[in-house]
Order: sequence, then structure tokens, then C-alpha cells
Amino acid sequence: MDRSTDTQAAEIERWLQQHEDKSLLRFITCGSVDDGKSTLIGRLLYDSKLLADDQLAAVQADSRKWGTRGGEVDLALLVDGLAAEREQGITIDVAYRFFHTERRKFIVADTPGHEQYTRNMVTGASTADAAVILVDARKGLLTQTRRHSHLVRLIGIRRVVLAVNKMDLVGWSQEVFDRIADAYREFAARIGLEQVTAIPLSALDGDNMLAHSERTPWYRGPTLMAWLETVEVDDERLQAGPLRMPVQWVNRPHQDFRGYAGTIARGSVAPGDRVRVLPSGRATAVAAIVTADGELAQAVAGQSVTLTLADEVDVSRGDVIVAADDPPEVADQFECTIVWMADEPLLPGRQYELKTGTRSVGASVTDLKYALDVDTMDHIAAKQLGLNGIGVANLALDRQIVFEPYETSREMGGFVLIDRMSHHTVGAGMLHFALRRASNIHLQHVDVDRAARARLKGQRPGVLWFTGLSGSGKSTIANLVEKKLHAAGRHTYLLDGDNVRHGLNKDLGFTEADRVENIRRIAEVAKLMADAGLIVMTAFISPFRAERDMARRLLPDGDFVEVHVDTPLEVAEGRDVKGLYRKARRGELKNFTGIDSPYEPPEQPEMRIDTVTLSAEDAAERVVGYLRAQGMVG
Ligand code: ADX
Repeated sequence: MDRSTDTQAAEIERWLQQHEDKSLLRFITCGSVDDGKSTLIGRLLYDSKLLADDQLAAVQADSRKWGTRGGEVDLALLVDGLAAEREQGITIDVAYRFFHTERRKFIVADTPGHEQYTRNMVTGASTADAAVILVDARKGLLTQTRRHSHLVRLIGIRRVVLAVNKMDLVGWSQEVFDRIADAYREFAARIGLEQVTAIPLSALDGDNMLAHSERTPWYRGPTLMAWLETVEVDDERLQAGPLRMPVQWVNRPHQDFRGYAGTIARGSVAPGDRVRVLPSGRATAVAAIVTADGELAQAVAGQSVTLTLADEVDVSRGDVIVAADDPPEVADQFECTIVWMADEPLLPGRQYELKTGTRSVGASVTDLKYALDVDTMDHIAAKQLGLNGIGVANLALDRQIVFEPYETSREMGGFVLIDRMSHHTVGAGMLHFALRRASNIHLQHVDVDRAARARLKGQRPGVLWFTGLSGSGKSTIANLVEKKLHAAGRHTYLLDGDNVRHGLNKDLGFTEADRVENIRRIAEVAKLMADAGLIVMTAFISPFRAERDMARRLLPDGDFVEVHVDTPLEVAEGRDVKGLYRKARRGELKNFTGIDSPYEPPEQPEMRIDTVTLSAEDAAERVVGYLRAQGMVG
């Protein structure tokens, strides 16, 4: 930080302290290109003697600092959701501006309306309490207006101002205003936005911004600033609910002190309150609420505190401390809405990392029910979601999470999806409800286990995963390996692409989505067979790292052996045993791996086989040699 940034940071700190007692309203502005959005924001800032825009950089550079406690917590809440995205290399075109009046302080997210609108709006609005939707009085409602309103509703914002701007250009006509306001109210009610206030404005001249304009004697509603100053903020509503506090970290400075730190997502807490720790369900009571400035008699939603508990219970990061008599649900399968933010499509079956609150778990879409047309909200059948796509899907997690529907709590019902390979945030979403079956299906405990079955066969089971281009020699080599293992008295099974695609997977083709599903099923089957005590070989192109990785994660460490049958495209194409490359080159076969569908070579396979220099026989011998060294074959 240079000196000037230091000064700015200090100034903002003072600003936040000065206004500590005021409530904070977070809102977003949406509008089309020429609606006068910048003028409107400029006016609000000007009128309220804003904090200079360039001070924003200082806040963002050190957002955590503002998040430690007190009235400053709010800023961290706003920036927190974005921190991940920023760290993970997504560029978000959202500008945040700060201002205050005598009654309130404000943070406004200005989301540009260009084509990346979905991503920008979702990130900009994810913590907003209210939205200002601008229309140009001359143009009335546009497709953009409807689109933005749909997104606002989806994100869970309930309070909306329809700012009918440029009223001076329609001669301050009440008739024009009423027509636009009525049409919007009718539309808004249909999509579930119930709290709409329409205000006739000239942002440029300041009419109805701070004071009522003489030019609209017929208008009796609030000015824009009056609305912003009095509209209910979510914090107030959240403080009324039952306690939810996700544990961010366990604070253990010395043997005799154990505190659980986090930001209260909902409700309030006081010493003596009965609480429960989820997912374990253990009940206890709050002993004390500790902060840097001493102990508190009460803490409410939005505050960051450390709780100590009356009993010694096991609490770890990611657990949630909740009101004992009103706990939220715990589940691992959900219906949800997903907003996709990456160029690479969302593929059902692919594993992503899901982050919600302080928890991080594996997640995959088990059923993409439909995609939404953002302009009409029509449901469209879809196999995948592309950039800016919005869909409703069933989601399966690899562990249970404590959650609340997004409609109830954005903190406990909102999530982001992260690509396991690139670590980029690729989606955001909202949990709707838990699927019944999540709580009704339990893993059946079986007495004869993996180890017992393996012992009886006298072998160490595992999966040999062959991957490579079509025609690389996977099947040939795998076949020879199986023969050798069989001859050595091993119990084996070979799963081969061309065969499995005639049976179990005959419903699947070669689109990306189908290949992901193909490999997901094979991985699960291979896992079951290894569990049965077999040495399993799989020979599939398996072109994507993500799915090969998923297969690896299904098995205990060391039991998955990835064998890259590394044959250059020219060589595989030159062999062209099945004549498929020729067909693909002629354009008669679409999505052919290596031609118009990608192959992602393994980065660190256990074995790499160069079929240009090695014969199939020698290659098989080397694989068996490797297994011998690993103790899989005696
Ligand atoms: S994978 O990509 O989903 O792993 P898999 O190994 O099951 O593919 O099937 C590949 C085999 O299907 C190839 O060896 C080839 O015989 C045949 N095939 C038919 N169409 C294609 C295609 N478009 N791309 C690749 N292989 C294809």
C-alpha cells in the first residue's frame, strides 16, 4: 500500500466508524445503455456528498480489514462473495460505490448491461437488498427491463424501484408515467415481484431524487432518496429468524479456551441460549460471546463473533451452530437453480467443487431438468448449460451439508461451483429444497467387505485405467494384460469401450455430455468390481481429465493405475483399423476424438506407453511388471 492508499483507507475507516450506527442498504442498479444509469448514480453520489470513487480501490485491496467486526461487517459481506471470484480469475464488471446520508449508508453495485449481464448481475446482486430498475420514459419497458427483472427476482431481491427517467423529455406527462408504471406492475406481479414503487425522475436535473419536484405535482409517492433511506434492509429481517452461525474457524489460543468464530448468518444469540451443532446434532448452550472489545450480552445477524459453549462438544470448521429448537435441514441431494458463468459448459455427471458458507464439498448435477429462457422464463429442455445459462437441476453432493432454502437465507442457501482442474469459479446457484430420497437412502452396511473378498481371492484388487485416442492400442494391450494376469491365476475383468457401449451404455453417443456420463458409469462399475475383489481393466478413450480424476477419487489411494496409451494422432490415424478416422475427415462422423472433439492427455499417469517404439506384447509385459512391483500380482 502506498501512502495515498493508506490515507484513503484511513479515511474510509473513519467514514465507516462515523456511520457505524446507521443501517446499510445494498442495492443494484440495472438499465439499458442509454437509460441514464450513470447519471442517476452520479446524482445520488453528488447529492449525498459521496466518498470519492477512487477510494474504493483501497477498500477492495484490503476488504478483510473491514470485516472484522462492528458496523464494518457489512462491507465484508458484500465483498466476501466476490473474493473467491477475484482470487480465481473471473473478471467481474461490477463497480461498487459508497455514499451516506443522515439516516443510512449505502453501497450501490453498478452492473453493466452488456452481454455478460447474467454473470455481472448475479455477482453484483448476490447480497443486495433492493434494486433500482431504470427505464427511459420515451421508450417504456424493453426486453432488457424484463430480463433484468427476472434476474432480480431469481437472485431473491424483493424490493424494487422502477425509476422512470427522462420524464422531462415526455413533458412530465402523468399519462406516460402511469402507462409505464401500470404495465410494469402487471408484469412484476406475474413474476413474483410484489413490492414495486414507480418514481418519475429526471436524474440529470435532480427531479424527485432528493426533493419532490414541482414539475410532478400529480406524484404523491416517495423521492428516490427517501425510498432508499426507508426501505427495509435484509439485515433487519435476518435478525428476527432463528440462530444460524457457520463456524469459520476454531479459536484455541491455549488449552483452557476453545471458541468458535464466524459471522452470524441469521437470528441472534445470547449467553445461556440452547444451541445445537450440525451436522452432528449435539445440543449444548452458549457460555459467552467473545469479541476483541470484551464479552457481549447479545449478538445479531451480520456480526462476527466468537462463541464459547457450555459443554465440550466436537465442533469443526464448516459446522453450523443453530437454535436448538429450530434447526435447519441437513441433506446431500437438492433441487437448485444454477447460473453458469464459464465458457466451458456445465455437464451433468461432471464433478465440481461446491462452496457454501464455510463448507466445501464435491458436487455433480444428476439431472438437468430444464434451462430458462431469461427473456420469457420459459422452460427449455437442455443437456448442458452454456455461458450465462440458467437452469434448474438436481444436485448430488459427496457429503451432507447444513442448509436453508435460498429464499429463506442467501448465506445458507447460496453456493458457487468451482472447476476442479482450473480452480475457477464456473457457476453460482441457489438451493431450493432437499430431495426426499437423500434422507431416506442409507448406505447398507455389509459384513463381507472388500478386504474379506480380496483375501478369499488371494489378491490385491485395483483398477487399471487405459486411456488414449481411438486406435491407440488400448484394447489390444488391455486384452494381453488380462491374458497374462489370468494365466498367473488372478481374477480379472476387462471393461472395453466398444463392448460396454453395446450394453450398459447403449443409450449414449459421443457428445461431451454423453462421454462424461459414459465414463461416470464405467468408473462406478469399475469401483464395484474392484470392491468385489477383481483386478479391473478399462479401455475407453476417456478424453477428459475431470472424469479420469473422478474415477481415481472413487478408489482408495494406490488402487487406481492410469495408463496413458500415448499414440500420436498421425499414427492412430495412419492405422485406422476401423476406418473411422477416414469417415471423420470426410465429415461423415461428428465429434470424433482428435479431429473435432478434444483429447486431454494425462498430466501424471502412473504409466505412459509409447506404442511407436513398443510392441503391444512388450507394452503388456511392462504393465504386468508395474503391477508386480506394486504387489498386485505375485
Ligand atoms: S469415450 O470418449 O466415451 O471414452 P469410448 O472409448 O467409450 O469413448 O468409445 C470409443 C470408440 O467408439 C472408438 O474406439 C470408436 O470405435 C467408436 N467411436 C464412434 N464414434 C466415435 C467418435 N465420434 N469419437 C470417438 N470414438 C468413436
